[in-house]
Amino acid sequence: MSKAGIILAAGQGTRMMSALPKVLHKIAGLPLLGHVVAAMRGAGVERIVVVTSPSGDAVRAYAAGLKCESVVQDRQLGTGHAAGSAQSALAGFDGTLVIANGDMPLVTPEVIGECMKAQARTGLAMLAFQASDPAQYGRVLLTPDGFLNRIVEYKDASAPERAITLCNGGCYAADALKFFRWTAALKNDNAQKEYYLTDVPSMARAEGVKCAVALADEVSVLGVNSRAELAEAEGKFQARMRARLLAEGVGMSAPETVFFAHDTIAGPDVEIEPFVVFGPGVVLGPGARIRSHSHLEGAPNLPVEVSPGAIVGPFARLRPGARIGAGAHIGNFVEVKNAVIDAGAKANHLSYLGDAHVGAGANIGAGTITCNYDGFTKALTEIGAGAFIGSNTALVAPVTVGAGAITAAGSVITKDVAPEALAIARGAQTEKPGWAKAFRERKQKEKK
Ligand code: UD1
Ligand code: MG
Repeated sequence: MSKAGIILAAGQGTRMMSALPKVLHKIAGLPLLGHVVAAMRGAGVERIVVVTSPSGDAVRAYAAGLKCESVVQDRQLGTGHAAGSAQSALAGFDGTLVIANGDMPLVTPEVIGECMKAQARTGLAMLAFQASDPAQYGRVLLTPDGFLNRIVEYKDASAPERAITLCNGGCYAADALKFFRWTAALKNDNAQKEYYLTDVPSMARAEGVKCAVALADEVSVLGVNSRAELAEAEGKFQARMRARLLAEGVGMSAPETVFFAHDTIAGPDVEIEPFVVFGPGVVLGPGARIRSHSHLEGAPNLPVEVSPGAIVGPFARLRPGARIGAGAHIGNFVEVKNAVIDAGAKANHLSYLGDAHVGAGANIGAGTITCNYDGFTKALTEIGAGAFIGSNTALVAPVTVGAGAITAAGSVITKDVAPEALAIARGAQTEKPGWAKAFRERKQKEKK
């Protein structure tokens, strides 16, 4: 049976108090919507339609980048109305539909799979969960035989109904043709005057179709409606990443202080010291060591790569396109951007290496700066294998320092340096014997 997905992302997200549409807020560097799309794809749902608001250009652009279709829900009349707006895009589709809220970033392929399995029993299913704090989730009432009786939205619920802890997880699976018949029949006679998706099961029952209930864990269906819930979801996502990486052999002495991106890749025996932050697009080879207070962040098509056995930090910053070779060292207060550092090279202190290639085994002295930008264009610095760049060298790009060459400390290198040569580009030192003593004596006399 073919599958398609609908993701509801047209709500204003007013509780976020933000100009940014709710589903574009990020968890571990990826928008909420991206998490839901990834989980659906992981569950085998390739074709996905995202429901957006008329002002949702940014959401549509993001969805298109993820190879999703999108439709516009003209007015935000509720989740049932939103799901119904996807009908035009899915006209003639006669398979299984998975419908999910766009604000559930911790959803996994497994729980979506459970929902689809339950759907196969009756033709309609939803995810429910036992909430430790049911807050404003819709409350789920079951029939004695374990099917859904009905969902009561928090705002419509009586006090005894609000005491129920079984809640609606915001993910459903249904036969497509029937589903759109049911959404078309929804009414908005409720506290919020909205067309609730949660009333679809009642429509189904009128046709004799029961709604099966699949149980999900509370974390996987966490809904993000406010900044506080966004922070809570981030915390839960980080906890999940840390546990997975520890299980895969990544060493962390204080995992609760390390922050990962959704796509961080780390090989076995990577060691991450406390207080390290990863942005998206970072790959750590086996045995790499990331020392405290370092910040690593790649960009699309410009990953950060740290090769096996390399050491980064403490207090290092790796930006997009930083590729650190095997056994290389990037030390404290060293920033690397769009630069390839070959095996065994060292930049241990206080340097900026941008738009550069540093050959194998080269040594970059403290205070070395690649002057890569003239305010208009970026230019390249090439440093040969085994070169020794003296402390406080400014390398004015484009410039090449040949293999094995040395630059004298404090040099401003504006011309290429031949392999094995020494380049000195600084004022020559002069010395005036006894000048200091004479100076002090003169000044002391003037003071009296
Ligand atoms: C919804 C459920 C609730 C469930 C909870 C799980 C309904 C009526 N309630 O509540 O039972 O426990 O999710 O997290 O479904 N949206 C649209 N168009 C609209 C309205 C909403 O696309 O007109 C989208 C939103 O962008 C959001 C999703 O639908 O991604 C859910 O809407 P939201 O307002 O977050 O519903 P909840 O109050 O969380
Ligand atoms: Mg919600």
